[in-house]
Amino acid sequence: MACCHYYMLQEGGDAAFTINVSQLTFGPGAIGEAGDRARELGLKRVALFTDKRLAALPFVETAQRSLREAGVDYAVYADVEVEPTDASFQAAARFAQEGRFDGFVSVGGGSVIDTCKAANLFATHPADFTAYVNAPIGEGRPVPGPLKPHIACPTTSGTGSETTGVAVFDFVARKLKTGIASKHMIPTMALVDPDTAMTLPGTVLAASGFDALSHALECYTCRPHTMRPKAASASARPLYNGANPWSDLPAREALRLIGRYLVRAVADRSDAEARGQMMYAGTLAGMAFGNGGCHLPHGMSYAVAGQVRDYRAADYPQAHPMVPHGMAVILNAPSVYRFTASACPERHLDGAADLGADVRGATPADAGEIVAKRIIAMMQATGFPQGLQAVGYRESDADSLAEGAFPQKRLMDNSPRPATKEDLAELFRGAMRYW
Ligand SMILES: [Fe+2]
Repeated sequence: MACCHYYMLQEGGDAAFTINVSQLTFGPGAIGEAGDRARELGLKRVALFTDKRLAALPFVETAQRSLREAGVDYAVYADVEVEPTDASFQAAARFAQEGRFDGFVSVGGGSVIDTCKAANLFATHPADFTAYVNAPIGEGRPVPGPLKPHIACPTTSGTGSETTGVAVFDFVARKLKTGIASKHMIPTMALVDPDTAMTLPGTVLAASGFDALSHALECYTCRPHTMRPKAASASARPLYNGANPWSDLPAREALRLIGRYLVRAVADRSDAEARGQMMYAGTLAGMAFGNGGCHLPHGMSYAVAGQVRDYRAADYPQAHPMVPHGMAVILNAPSVYRFTASACPERHLDGAADLGADVRGATPADAGEIVAKRIIAMMQATGFPQGLQAVGYRESDADSLAEGAFPQKRLMDNSPRPATKEDLAELFRGAMRYW
């Protein structure tokens, strides 16, 4: 470990950490295992979650065929929204409640898998919608017990949702994004099929790849578990421990793969090696942040996505203005790392080196700039927007963005360097234009 003192126990900190992961199957054709896996779990009738675009692609048919061959009955729910909302979560939950399913299969990106998690939660443990939503936005009530089995089959290479216990949604009335997080929401099994990455348009692959990059780097640089105040009981230890020696391993391997393959995978739709490796990297990064956590780039992204005016990204649905999640995250990242590097410069330098930056002769004082420059170079190489300005924001929006990001307490608290609301506004100003 590059900086072993990082895990020195602080007064009142938590000396232990707990790791929760899905059972993972990775490889070409993995989606075709869904039926046999459902049967193995004893399932007789499942809800198959997807969205309308995916329902027309062969992967959903592959999952359906394998369920039929295994003798597992299913009903398809294809009304998932690309950026789910409180209303779309609740509609999915009604479908799950009324269908009396004994398990769930999801085939899709993070939106589909997250919606399936929420539907499973409310069908299994009914409650008012805000009951389980992260405090202080919702009540933050703990999920009372296990959910029904969920087999998650991702079709994008970034969200890592197939391995995490979080479901993110747009709280429309509050104009912000938030989530529900519990170890009970971690899918039982993840079937990760690299063949699915071959159909992704370049912008979608870039956005999901940058999301994975940020999951890994935020996780590796976040506040250590030994500094997080110890919970009242072992079972109350949060899903996101903070940085820990286990999460460091998948995080760094994900960064190495993303540094090597992201630009190639975006540039060439037929590059099966690069696209397959990005799929693996996305899952590894999910396992990492699913146990370590993220910090400021994700916390700030929810305000960037929530306060969008009229931006529409190529290759995404055009019906509503939207900054895709991975884009909303990475646009903040260089500005954030310039700010957080002083808290753990060695980790920022490790991350930059894993991504392919030359760190020879670098001093701790260089760490923030080196990692920021490496991310910016990757943004340029993939044709990404040059900052928040390019998706419709102005410097005068910085205070309002900071106001929207600050309540993301779980993410703010995980930052290696505490950030005030004024700091956040400054970080948004620093993210307006990178080149
Ligand atoms: Fe993310």
